[in-house]
Amino acid sequence: MADVRPSPDADGVLHTLFRTEQGGHEQVVLCQDRESGLRAVIALHSTALGPALGGTRFHAYASDEEAVLDALNLSRGMSYKNALAGLDHGGGKAVIIGDPDQIKTEQLLLAYGRFVASLGGRYVTACDVGTYVEDMDVVARVNRWTTGRSPEQGGAGDSSVLTAFGVFQGMRAAAQTQWGSPTLRGRRVGVAGVGKVGRHLVDHLVEDGAEVVITDVRAEAVERIIARHPKVTSVVDAEVLVRSPLDVYAPCALGGALDDATVAALTARIVCGAANNQLAHPGVEKDLADRGILYAPDYVVNAGGVIQVADELHGFDFDRAKAKAAKIFDTTLAIFDRAKADGIPPAVAADRLAEQRMAEARQRTTGGVGR
Ligand SMILES: NC(=O)c1ccc[n+]([C@@H]2O[C@H](COP(=O)([O-])OP(=O)(O)OC[C@H]3O[C@@H](n4cnc5c(N)ncnc54)[C@H](O)[C@@H]3O)[C@@H](O)[C@H]2O)c1
Repeated sequence: MADVRPSPDADGVLHTLFRTEQGGHEQVVLCQDRESGLRAVIALHSTALGPALGGTRFHAYASDEEAVLDALNLSRGMSYKNALAGLDHGGGKAVIIGDPDQIKTEQLLLAYGRFVASLGGRYVTACDVGTYVEDMDVVARVNRWTTGRSPEQGGAGDSSVLTAFGVFQGMRAAAQTQWGSPTLRGRRVGVAGVGKVGRHLVDHLVEDGAEVVITDVRAEAVERIIARHPKVTSVVDAEVLVRSPLDVYAPCALGGALDDATVAALTARIVCGAANNQLAHPGVEKDLADRGILYAPDYVVNAGGVIQVADELHGFDFDRAKAKAAKIFDTTLAIFDRAKADGIPPAVAADRLAEQRMAEARQRTTGGVGR
């Protein structure tokens, strides 16, 4: 048999996996099913608070190493999100490697579902980029730990409803902190990206009495909002939006919305939106704070969707999930209070609170023994 040595790339991944400042993951499972062509990575960052919960991303990665690193980063992010959402879930994430349009088949999804089953409940999956409710219905046929299913299959359906509700709660908390009252009435709010989450957010804002201005790269998305809310106005792109007079800026499109140029140009006093990974690089959170702009950490305010799917495990109840998502208001306030008390940006305060909740849970399960 030929001598197979790990490539330098594999060393790189293993180094990241075991380096604690990168997360110190509990378990990473590499999955392969030759018949269906499935190749997947399931990363469990932490189960301190309970079974790891996080979606399945289906993507054509440039390399296998990139796929593993994505699973490591995304699962770590889910630990923090779930901890601050008040869920009894740790953080996990799966990635399926390949172009979903080319390789996604029922056979492949069932093979993936069997790997989820093999973890015996340590990992609970859901939708993410490249996977949809109908895919989760297939995955759920071979395990009990799949959420994000269709309402016909006992699932919660579209998670953007409670995601938008949660973002609105976070924005109210930011208004309370910045202006002393938990309302957006009379405030000018710019929403960049009016897709599934953004359009529900506009509904909440209009109902609350805010003046709303929107932008989207898709003209039909803008037209749809204005047909529904004729007083809403639009601008040509996000760059124009951030420079126009705003009280609140809500990034609801893609990640990396808050780069150096955007932060320097912002007129808004609050940033609070649904998009994941809004801070383009470390240090942006401090630049925002230095400019007196209150930033509501993205993973805190956009947790309504994960709160919604987590509820499926108990037999989905929309009102119960909504009541839990409403607590995003208190959590966001607590983060702003901690940031003020410790003299740190809210993004750092959020990380510390999440780490505290995970450490407390770990201490409970080890009876105070160990780390
Ligand atoms: N759907 C959820 O439950 C959920 C949960 C948590 C986080 N998020 C995050 O919220 C964001 C929005 O999610 P979504 O489900 O509404 O997605 P979506 O694809 O339905 O909507 C995104 C919208 O942004 C627009 N857009 C893209 N690039 C843009 C740009 N440069 N400028 C202006 N508009 C642009 C798109 O045309 C689209 O209408 C994403 O970052 C997503 O990861 C969503």
